[in-house]
Amino acid sequence: MQIVSYLIYLLASGLFIFGIKRLASPKTARQGNALSVTGMFLAVVITLFDQRVLTFEFIIVGLVVGALIGSVMALKVPMTGMPQMVGLLNGFGGGASALVAFAEYYYIVEHHAVFQESTSITMVLSVLIGAVTFTGSLIAFGKLQGIVTGKVVKYPLQNPVNVLLMLAVVVAGVFVVIDPVGNFDLLVGIVAVSLVLGVLLVLPIGGADMPVAISLLNSYSGIAASMTGFVLSNNMLIIAGALVGASGIILTIIMCKGMNRSLMNVVLGGWESAGGGGPAASVDGQQKTAKSVDAEEAAMLFESAQNVVIVPGYGMAVAQAQHAVRDLANILEEKGINVRFAIHPVAGRMPGHMNVLLAEAQVSYDKLFALEDINDDFNNVDIAFIVGANDVVNPAARHDKNSPIFGMPILNVDYAKTVIINKRSLNVGYAGIGNDLFYQDNSLMYFGDAKSAISKLVNEIKEL
Ligand code: TAP
Repeated sequence: MQIVSYLIYLLASGLFIFGIKRLASPKTARQGNALSVTGMFLAVVITLFDQRVLTFEFIIVGLVVGALIGSVMALKVPMTGMPQMVGLLNGFGGGASALVAFAEYYYIVEHHAVFQESTSITMVLSVLIGAVTFTGSLIAFGKLQGIVTGKVVKYPLQNPVNVLLMLAVVVAGVFVVIDPVGNFDLLVGIVAVSLVLGVLLVLPIGGADMPVAISLLNSYSGIAASMTGFVLSNNMLIIAGALVGASGIILTIIMCKGMNRSLMNVVLGGWESAGGGGPAASVDGQQKTAKSVDAEEAAMLFESAQNVVIVPGYGMAVAQAQHAVRDLANILEEKGINVRFAIHPVAGRMPGHMNVLLAEAQVSYDKLFALEDINDDFNNVDIAFIVGANDVVNPAARHDKNSPIFGMPILNVDYAKTVIINKRSLNVGYAGIGNDLFYQDNSLMYFGDAKSAISKLVNEIKEL
């Protein structure tokens, strides 16, 4: 029986590795998801069964209840609410790892079993990282959900207090490793301080940086799971945790690069703004006026274009306008116009946000161009059509040294012959700053909710 469970664990680990590889492209992502889900299903069932934790009846009841909760969450949570859902799930993962390691420790102490040094090291790490991840993720969830302030929270002696607490848990951890049986109280202390640390480390981070923090916490939850794998001598958990830990940190680095920020800047509470807000009072200290077009005028401009680039952003996701955008691309192509999509690495609120939405609307993947593949071509573009994007097309990132987004790579839409910007108002985006693009000579605002405005535009183009 043991050999069968080892083989199933091996199969599950293989499915995780191939699954994560397939997630790398939208074309194969669904398949990747299915492979990983199958791997997790096998791993959970064989663990519960092999360790005689539960009988088949209970496993089936658990499957039904779990599948129901998971399905309702997946169906109910909107795409734009995904970061906080991921945040919450990370927290559960971290909390579970900490609980398992703590329970294992308690079991060994109670049964006067022998601690191996390597086991007690990984137990302490699992408890520490798991507890930090748990409360940190709950705060991250609260910030994105608007339950906890999205502001950067700063108070006197913040960093020295955090460093002191971290040192305290590390020193306590060393004592626990040296004498696990005699220092059970210290382990309880590590749990308590780690829970507080999770709150203190995430609270200062502004809402705007929360997706990066969540990605980092995702990595922590993987490391905690991997450590728990060592505690339980479970290779599959070690592999799965290591995959999550590594991919989480890679994702964090990609996001930081996309925003031209250092991880330290994010972690120490860099940006004040928390997800958009009111209008920009002025740009460059001057009151400017933006020109606007209605659907009919915009349709006529599209009619005379040869080369169009659509730039989607967060607003397209909020409005669920991806299907209308696809209809627009189709009708323009029917009229012989070349249509491409320019995708900024941090457009929207999570990595690949735009790719996922456009793939859902059946936009062919070969029409999607990454920033570095299209940015030099905007001079040849007749119309750059911005759909609910703001920060990722803000020229201040190029020249305004005082701007919070200075240095972030942006899409060069302002180099196009005409720029049409669809959003509901002149309000700011995520970084909370004004955008000079709206006031440029070659810019035209096309105001309205993306879904209805673009559907209207499609109808106008049809009638031409
Ligand atoms: P944003 O700069 O956030 O701008 C989105 C714009 O969409 C808003 O200005 C808003 O203007 C408009 N909008 C909202 N609802 C709309 C609707 N129903 N119809 C039409 N427009 C609507 O978006 P972006 O350009 O995609 O930039 C993403 C930002 O998020 C960047 O600052 C990035 O650094 C940050 N961020 C991204 C990630 C990832 S990984 N993607 C992670 C962390 C942070 P109105 O209110 O005027 O309509």
